[in-house]
Amino acid sequence: MSVAADPVKLMKQKVGQAAADRVQSGSIVGLGTGSTTAYTIQFLGERLKAGELKNIQGIPTSFQAEVLAKQYGIPLTTLDAVDHIDLAIDGADEVDPQKNLIKGGGAAHTREKIVDSLADQFIVVVDSSKIVDRLGSSFPVPVEVIPMAIAPVMRAIEKLGGQPELRMGVKKAGPVITDQGNMVIDVKFDNISDPAGLEKTLNNIPGVLENGIFVGVTDLVLIGEVQNNQPIVREM
Ligand code: A5P
Repeated sequence: MSVAADPVKLMKQKVGQAAADRVQSGSIVGLGTGSTTAYTIQFLGERLKAGELKNIQGIPTSFQAEVLAKQYGIPLTTLDAVDHIDLAIDGADEVDPQKNLIKGGGAAHTREKIVDSLADQFIVVVDSSKIVDRLGSSFPVPVEVIPMAIAPVMRAIEKLGGQPELRMGVKKAGPVITDQGNMVIDVKFDNISDPAGLEKTLNNIPGVLENGIFVGVTDLVLIGEVQNNQPIVREM
C-alpha cells in the first residue's frame, strides 16, 4: 500500500511493529487496546510463530485485546497469577509534551490504567496526529461511570466547568457499555491546565470508576509519522 493511500494506517502499522520488536523472550507484556496496538499484537504473534520470540505471556487490557491475542496465538495470564509486568504497550488519544495522556477512545481506559501503571516500562504507540501541546485540545476526557450515578456525575462535571456527553453506541441502540458493564461520559474541557489535579478531582466524584487522564505513567512514546513519503518511527 502506498503512503498516499492510507497514511494513518501505515503510521499505525509501523509504530505498532516497532513496539512489538522491543519485546524480549520471557517477558510478561501488557497488551493495549485500539487500532494501533492491534498491530503490536499481530506482530508479537508473528514473532512467536517465527520462533524469534519465546515464552511471553500477555495481560490484555480489554476484551478486544484478549480476542486478538488468542487469534494470534499469544499465551495469556492474569494479574492474579503474576507479581509484575515487564512491559506494557498501549495507544493514546492525546499525548502532551510531559508524556501525559488522554486515553479511553475505545472505552477501555480503566483496565488500561491498571495494567499500564503496573508495568516496569510503559511504551505508548501513536501516530503523529495524537501529539498536542496541551491535553484536551482535540479530545474529550472519557469518564467511566456506574450506571445508577450517571445523572449526578454529569451534574458534578458541569459544576467543574466540563461539558459532559453520554457516549452512544454505533450499530447498537443506547449507550456504550464497557467491559465492566458501566457507561462512559465524554467530557469536553476548554482548558486542562492541571491534568494531575483534574484526574484526581474526577475520580473523587462518587460513581466515577476511572477517567482517561494518565499522568506520570508513560516511560517512552513512539510516534509513527510520514517523512519523504515513507512511514518512519521516532522517539518523543
Ligand atoms: C482505548 O480505550 C484507548 O485508550 C486506545 O488505546 C486509544 O483510543 C488509541 O486508539 P487507537 O490506537 O485506535 O488510535
